[in-house]
Amino acid sequence: MSRIRELRTASLLTIFLAGMASAQDAAAPPAGQPATPAASAPSPVNRELWSAKTPLGLEDVGLTAPDDNQITKPKVVLGKKLFWDKRLSPQGTHACVTCHLPDKGWTDGTQFSVKADGSINTRHTPTLYNVAYNKAFYWDGRAETLEKQILAAWEAQMGAKDKVNELAKKIDDIAGYKKLFGEAFQGDATPDRIVKALASFTRTILSGNSPYDAYAAGKADAISEAAKRGFAVFRTKGRCAVCHPPGLFTDQGFHNIGVGGGTPKDDPGYGKVANHPSYNGAFKTPTLRNVMSHPPFGHTGQFRSVLEFLKYFESPFDSPNLDPIAKGGVKLTDAEKADLQQFLFSLDSADDPETTSKPELP
Ligand code: HEC
Ligand code: HEC
Repeated sequence: MSRIRELRTASLLTIFLAGMASAQDAAAPPAGQPATPAASAPSPVNRELWSAKTPLGLEDVGLTAPDDNQITKPKVVLGKKLFWDKRLSPQGTHACVTCHLPDKGWTDGTQFSVKADGSINTRHTPTLYNVAYNKAFYWDGRAETLEKQILAAWEAQMGAKDKVNELAKKIDDIAGYKKLFGEAFQGDATPDRIVKALASFTRTILSGNSPYDAYAAGKADAISEAAKRGFAVFRTKGRCAVCHPPGLFTDQGFHNIGVGGGTPKDDPGYGKVANHPSYNGAFKTPTLRNVMSHPPFGHTGQFRSVLEFLKYFESPFDSPNLDPIAKGGVKLTDAEKADLQQFLFSLDSADDPETTSKPELP
């Protein structure tokens, strides 16, 4: 989190020099600028090990993976099986796919999912599309790498806390898995390797090559006239592209747009991670690729449709931390909202059955 330290050092300096700015003002990002936490920069994906074609529209973003967990075919094949395998939870109740279903845009369609210990999540399950490109994980960005995030999900969501060694041993005792771990890691199943395989599979969940991408690549009739008008609203009057810029359709920043009530004490979001109250109520901008496939929306899962979200955005919950763009709301006509929705539909892409089909478990 060196960037946060930098920000805080900078803010102290500002206070020292100006002698009057409050710490809150000093550390707040400049208007409209996302605050992005530091993540150790992973390396580009080694194309000799992983040569799968990058979907149209994502070429410029650059797929990365950590040096000690480059993507390989055997790891992806293994990780996919583990993603579906409930034997990774102590009571055999939960797998990753329990909450991240491919036919629900890798979410679960509910407002809040239920963890293996029976408790209910306080944030809505986010999509896994294009998480390979994320700079930080979770709605509040508290995990710096996908590997750390997945270990945390295994322990907390699936109830494996203090049991990962035991569970890895159980997996290792399954002959089919022994073979797959041998192929992927030249060794036995360990918690670390389970996480690495899951991360490798998760990095292959990509969304690109949509009608919009064909349009952006020059095929003028790839999207409807309504979607074209919607794209204009998206970039101009709606100002959506400021935070959801084309490419990944997320700036990877953290913004307070009032969802959840502005600066709630019980869920400060990025404010807790950045350890600064000026970010309370800020959450990570989600990607809009394939967004129409996974209502409900928001970290609170409170919007049942995009139209509901747009209705909310007309007068977002106000607070001192509210993003300047959201201040006063974004008011669109019904026709503009309908066009915007058609544009969002044009970001839907067909899934690769190799990624979404249910695997056979050993
Ligand atoms: C009981 C439901 C549940 C299960 C099981 C579950 N998740 Fe999640 N997942 C969530 C929720 C809820 C969040 C968001 C939590 C937050 O932001 O605080 C999340 C967040 C994530 C994210 C972060 C996405 C982003 O954009 O930052 C990834 C990646 C992820 N899960 C992968 C996995 C993997 C891999 C597994 C299996 C090891 C798994 N999840 C198991 C509910 C679940
Ligand atoms: C100031 C930055 C910003 C602007 C401008 C903005 N968004 Fe967002 N958007 C966000 C953030 C942050 C969230 C997550 C909010 C939360 O849940 O706390 C979000 C959430 C969403 C969601 C829910 C997605 C999901 O997976 O839950 C949709 C849909 C969406 N925005 C569409 C739009 C559209 C359409 C516009 C233009 C009218 C727009 N946004 C303008 C930052 C922004």
